[in-house]
Amino acid sequence: MKYYMAPLEGITTYIFRQVYNRHFERFDKYFTPFLASTKLTSREKQEILPENNQGITLVPQILANNPDTFLGIARQLADYGYRTVNLNLGCPSGTVVAKKRGAGQLGDICRLRDFLDEIFEKCPLTISVKTRIGLESMEEWDALIELYSDYKLEELIIHPRLREEYYSGKPHVDAVSKAIKHGLGYPVCYNGDILSKDDLQRVVAFLTDIPDYNIMIGRGVLRNPFLLSQIKGLDSHDDSDSESLIRDFLIDLAESYAQAYGKGQDRNVLFKQKDIWNYLGLEVEGHDKEIKMIRKTESVAEYCSLVKRIYHG
Ligand SMILES: Cc1cc2nc3c(=O)[nH]c(=O)nc-3n(C[C@H](O)[C@H](O)[C@H](O)COP(=O)(O)O)c2cc1C
Repeated sequence: MKYYMAPLEGITTYIFRQVYNRHFERFDKYFTPFLASTKLTSREKQEILPENNQGITLVPQILANNPDTFLGIARQLADYGYRTVNLNLGCPSGTVVAKKRGAGQLGDICRLRDFLDEIFEKCPLTISVKTRIGLESMEEWDALIELYSDYKLEELIIHPRLREEYYSGKPHVDAVSKAIKHGLGYPVCYNGDILSKDDLQRVVAFLTDIPDYNIMIGRGVLRNPFLLSQIKGLDSHDDSDSESLIRDFLIDLAESYAQAYGKGQDRNVLFKQKDIWNYLGLEVEGHDKEIKMIRKTESVAEYCSLVKRIYHG
């Protein structure tokens, strides 16, 4: 079983990936948040530059519903030395779905088939897919499995929720089991709501008769950056060690963003830190006052001293 860090737009940037890797257990694979510009923007280039991603396996992700856009981005990625790309068929956001991209592509199987036919025929790179199990109805999944079984994917990553469910309710683990039992002939990866080792064990118990699959984790690792080492049974830190490790990670992260953004960018640096606190804050007890101050502060120096007040281990 291999473990992947999920792409989270605006959060798992190259800076986040680098800093996470300096402090915590590394994942087997990382995925960029989606790239969508026909000509990669300078921000998108930063995400995929090999020098920004040393020592890790990175798969760039593309969000596109037009074969020319997809192939144009893929060719630029090939020029940077990438051999595989991931297609986003899962993004549930209103603006993305309204343009029939991401999970919005799942609603019209004929159009999706035409799109896949063309990109699989012409793409110089292998293609994996990250998908939801339908737009509005569980009935859609069987046809999607049939569709995916017609292509030689690098891997199928399944977040087993409908678009309509966004992130609510429990993931439909049985949908993943159905896809694997169909015998697709390539690896399958489960993704969704793994926040603890127990959550993973529940998925493993559900998929008990299934020989091989991989696991992708997103929000769980933001809430608890030790999650992967705990899952692997490698975490032997006491509470005070853990506090100082998280503190050093958060300060490194803020300083790394500050360095990348340059002087006078405190507000932008802090936007990035505050996004992480939406998840990390859920796991912190007894520091409501400091967390409120983190949400309000406009100074990186004050932010770092608040982090030190919370994690003084
Ligand atoms: C803020 C946010 C941004 C996301 N951005 C992306 C993205 O760029 N590409 C993608 O495939 N999935 C994206 N996702 C979905 C995650 O990769 C993942 O599928 C989802 O969070 C479920 O996994 P988890 O429960 O382990 O977090 C995003 C999710 C969130 C909450």
